[in-house]
Amino acid sequence: LSATEREIIENSIRDVKDFPKPGIVFKDITTLLNNAKAYGVLMNHLYQRYKEYNLDYIAGIDARGFIFAASLAQMLGVGFVPIRKKGKLPYTTISEKYSLEYGVDEVEIHIDAFSEISNAKVLLIDDLIATGGTANAAAKLINQAGASCVEACFLIALDFLDGQKNLKEITNVYSLIEVK
Ligand code: PRP
Ligand code: ADE
Repeated sequence: LSATEREIIENSIRDVKDFPKPGIVFKDITTLLNNAKAYGVLMNHLYQRYKEYNLDYIAGIDARGFIFAASLAQMLGVGFVPIRKKGKLPYTTISEKYSLEYGVDEVEIHIDAFSEISNAKVLLIDDLIATGGTANAAAKLINQAGASCVEACFLIALDFLDGQKNLKEITNVYSLIEVK
């Protein structure tokens, strides 16, 4: 990513203070998505990086992760697989609980999501990593569904939360914008 490209992407992400709670600076990606130039620069960069990976699928995390994962899957000519919050997927699922700052949450994948290709190589995408709990649970699901999570990719990493240390299921991690 060139310095100019990084600047275009960074400047397109809006900081919203005190959302959803006082003290949180929310990284708003809607201002990247409605900016065709910035969205294009981002997707082109991801395409250039991942076209060499020989991926079989891209998995995206509910909800903001879907947008980038599905866009890239279409560009690379591979399938897209949604990893959803509990209770949203209609067919038989595998599910995984993970801890939040307070309490627990749960994500699910369809049991046959990767069944067309044995030992499928899967890239996991989300918009943002905070504590890492969601992405680690998602990677577990990919592996339990019989595929292999070869890398996790985040547009934004909140480095001050040190979420990467919780990604025990993931060997390779790539993030574009690091928030100190
Ligand atoms: C956000 C973000 C990640 C997750 C990161 O999603 O898009 O999926 O939180 O947090 P963690 O690293 O601490 O697990 P959110 O649950 O807000 O859902 P949304 O995409 O539906 O808004
Ligand atoms: N998910 C968790 N923390 C977040 C933040 N600060 N901005 C956007 N999404 C988030």
